[in-house]
Amino acid sequence: MRNVRVTALKIAGGALTALLFAASAASAQTASQNFVAAPPGATACLGCHGAGATAFPPLSRLSSDEIATAMTGFRDGTREATLMNRIAKGFTPEESKAIADWLAAQQGKKP
Ligand code: HEC
Repeated sequence: MRNVRVTALKIAGGALTALLFAASAASAQTASQNFVAAPPGATACLGCHGAGATAFPPLSRLSSDEIATAMTGFRDGTREATLMNRIAKGFTPEESKAIADWLAAQQGKKP
């Protein structure tokens, strides 16, 4: 009987350790992303616009306002585009602004 209880405690303790480990791994990952979690969709922009993606205009020289203004133009069709018109329509103005803020905040943080 006593052994069963000790075993149950050990299992519970193991599960707790695993949980704590998972939590600290998750926060370490957040820290390596400069503390600011990317809003939904933002990291997808970097597939085309990130460092090393030379076929597309880099966003690293643009301010948050410039990115958000461009997204508005792409969305309403006032700015000519081959791809961005379709991409921009997938985001609300609020989502675009959050993405623009995040992208602008990444400047200088990436090698
Ligand atoms: C599939 C590749 C692709 C993805 C993904 C992509 N873009 Fe673009 N982006 C382009 C291309 C190509 C252009 C040039 C305009 C055009 O032809 O659509 C452009 C232009 C831009 C410009 C104007 C840059 C300048 O110098 O004038 C901004 C701002 C921009 N994209 C923001 C974004 C944001 C924000 C996202 C993520 C939500 C994003 N892009 C995702 C391909 C992409």
